[in-house]
Amino acid sequence: MELNRRTLIAGTAAAGIAATTLGGTAQAAPGSGRPVKELFGKLADGTKIYRWSLENGGTRLKVLSYGGIVQSLEIPDRHGRYKNVSLGFATIEDYVAKTPYFGALIGRYGNRIAKGRFDLDGKSYQLSVNDGVNSLHGGAKGFDKRPWDIEGFTSGSDVGLHLYYTSVDGEMGYPGTLKAKVTYTLTRHGDWRIDYEATTDKATVVNLTSHVYWNLAGEGSGSIYDHELKIAAARYTPVDSGLIPTGELAKVAGTPFDFRRTKTVGEDIREANQQLLYGKGIDHNWVLDKGITAKPAHVATLRDPSSGRTLRIATTEPGLQFYSGNFLDGTLVGPGGHIYRQGDALCLETQHFPNSPNQPAFPSTVLRPGETYRSSTVHSFDA
Ligand code: GLA
Repeated sequence: MELNRRTLIAGTAAAGIAATTLGGTAQAAPGSGRPVKELFGKLADGTKIYRWSLENGGTRLKVLSYGGIVQSLEIPDRHGRYKNVSLGFATIEDYVAKTPYFGALIGRYGNRIAKGRFDLDGKSYQLSVNDGVNSLHGGAKGFDKRPWDIEGFTSGSDVGLHLYYTSVDGEMGYPGTLKAKVTYTLTRHGDWRIDYEATTDKATVVNLTSHVYWNLAGEGSGSIYDHELKIAAARYTPVDSGLIPTGELAKVAGTPFDFRRTKTVGEDIREANQQLLYGKGIDHNWVLDKGITAKPAHVATLRDPSSGRTLRIATTEPGLQFYSGNFLDGTLVGPGGHIYRQGDALCLETQHFPNSPNQPAFPSTVLRPGETYRSSTVHSFDA
């Protein structure tokens, strides 16, 4: 498998160089190293938003300085044909007006905090509430809606971007000035690695993640119910009707949430199960068997049998939010000109568990002054 992908990449890299020279578009030439920056658009207040293009090892990535958004991630199928496998938009206006977190960095807190409230060191905090009575993905204006400062780099055989955002004390109700640094690296094998770091000047909570919507057959190509998925988790966190974990770490055995052996996403998604009714499909956190690890460890494999494209996820995090694109409702049009409907993509968000600040038995998301928050996730591709 490995050998196939590398042989293939050698061939397509040569073709890619020719296309770049002829097209004259702002694209990182394969193997040429440095990420390329171009103006993508402007926010209403005049802030310029840039798009960075980088390529390495057969993976092509386009990243916006708005929300650190992955606007496009292209990988080859088993015949070397490239497709953008992540949902997105063609314009900054669409991202600002209506994105359901397409491709974005999520902060300060991935997923929900019940009623947007938590207590820390005897103080109560009220966060921005933006999902019914709860706070979702950092509140009304989370990290996904902020301009990030980006620097391109090459290091050895790696090509990447450093993304910086400073969240001021009290932003969206969170205590402490949080300095976040996220590094996107494309390795010579075409792996996309994300390293998150953050520091604070007051005790706070933090849970950063990436919200890429995957469709390995290509964005806008239809549903992902035929994708095959395996998750190394014997337990998950069931939720209430507001999608807040009940606190129980329930066994997946005998439920539609059992992905310990490979099955298609669609196999059990229509089972009359209360949890699936609450989520309008799958929108749950898996308790990864490996727990928190110092180095990224493999936790999930997603494969599109039609194209052969395969994604493997390794992470240091203890949880994985698997969201089956339930709220896509045919009202958004992607960059390829196709409408997105329910189940046209899925998200696999590596994270600490939702609502951890209110669940003392869950792994802690507290960050204190002098500590550095660190989290890493590696996406490996094959066909
Ligand atoms: C996460 C949440 C979902 C939904 C999506 C974006 O996966 O758990 O409920 O908010 O993000 O729509």
